[in-house]
Amino acid sequence: MNKLILRGRVLTFVEEPTSIDDQSAYNYFEDGAVLVEDGKIVDVGEYAAIAPVAADAKIVDHRPNLIMPGFIDTHLHFPQTQAIASYGAQLLEWLNTYIFVEEQKFSSTAHADFIAGRFMDELLRNGTTSAVAYCSVHRESVDAYFTAAEQRGMLMIGGKVMMDRNAPDALRDTPQSGYDDTKALIAKWHGRGRAHYAISPRFAITSTPRQMEMSQALVREHPECYVQTHLSENRDEIAFATSLYPSAKDYTDIYAGYCLLGEKMLLGHCIFLSDREISVLAETKSVAVFCPTSNLFLGSGLFDRDRFRSLGARISVATDVGGGTSFSMLETMSEAYKVLHVQGQRLSPFASYYMMTLGNARALGLEDRIGSLRTGGDADIVVLDSKAKPAMELRMRTATTLAEELFILQTMGDDRSVAEVYVAGKPMKSRIDTATPQVK
Ligand code: GUN
Ligand code: ZN
Repeated sequence: MNKLILRGRVLTFVEEPTSIDDQSAYNYFEDGAVLVEDGKIVDVGEYAAIAPVAADAKIVDHRPNLIMPGFIDTHLHFPQTQAIASYGAQLLEWLNTYIFVEEQKFSSTAHADFIAGRFMDELLRNGTTSAVAYCSVHRESVDAYFTAAEQRGMLMIGGKVMMDRNAPDALRDTPQSGYDDTKALIAKWHGRGRAHYAISPRFAITSTPRQMEMSQALVREHPECYVQTHLSENRDEIAFATSLYPSAKDYTDIYAGYCLLGEKMLLGHCIFLSDREISVLAETKSVAVFCPTSNLFLGSGLFDRDRFRSLGARISVATDVGGGTSFSMLETMSEAYKVLHVQGQRLSPFASYYMMTLGNARALGLEDRIGSLRTGGDADIVVLDSKAKPAMELRMRTATTLAEELFILQTMGDDRSVAEVYVAGKPMKSRIDTATPQVK
């Protein structure tokens, strides 16, 4: 028997909420059920309606917890798992002092395999079932990443970072080897099971014009792949990047000049863009990725969501581990709320949960597969406990609405609030490893 009914309070979005209590944006079933078969969602609705038509299904009773689509993280770095919380530096110094040292460890396939497994498990412990990550410059790190995802059945996006200057020798590829390795990895992984490849020139500072040309060729030859890079995160970075490409109008124009922008492009940070640059992102349908914990931790700046909105540009949200300080999308949205609040911008609880699920799925063009609980979609599901900590339980005693509960869960919750997580219909929590000793 492979039919499963998950019973609980079911919440899923169908649209982006346009106001704080926009009830047309979501479906909520107080005594709800998700019927799962062979890794897919067969039905979603009232338990009383679904149970009789699936009498042969195994029932897992998650009441009173909330059942939602698994969270999606649109930007993080798998080789930085053990470099989170590195003290005291802003972007360029932080990269040179900590990150470029840490990423060299991934020349060891044993180390890459070990961290890849722990990285996937950490995502799952936090309720994240799909993510877009940078691997290291080493080809084998991509094999480690997609193998670990495949072992768990996860829909993951990623790619080998390309970088051929302004980094230690041991982390530099060349325009040709970056191209060749990326081609080979796309052939090996893109479309295998649930894997998607992301062509990944790190940023303008670490790629020569020749490597940008090779990236352009890769994007032209593989329009099916994602593209990811970093844009306008820090003022020193912007000055350095634009000095390396003096004929570009601005930082965005560097990437535009190599035809890298488009609806598959994910641009991390985008903090200091001019209206012109945001308009170019809007015209090309590129996605600006808001990384609140990272932007605060690295002292980078504040993402101005409302300017992206008013100029019609697409956005998504992400942890950016290890510049980001948590794998938890709940903690990430708690910081997003604060980043926007301090600028006089509002982020409603419903808008937050939309962003972590359907919003991020739409940013990836994967909304027919992940990000919502819908018939025919993949059964990637998170079960959330709003009373997971004593202080949350106390606070929840005074909550009277779903919006209030969601906000408490986001503001006070973390991995402890994830009661269960399903990947393609399989419960994963009991399989998560936190005990394997370090492998070098
Ligand atoms: N810009 C280029 N590389 C990185 C990185 O690894 N992290 C962050 N936050 N910004 C970057
Ligand atoms: Zn990043």
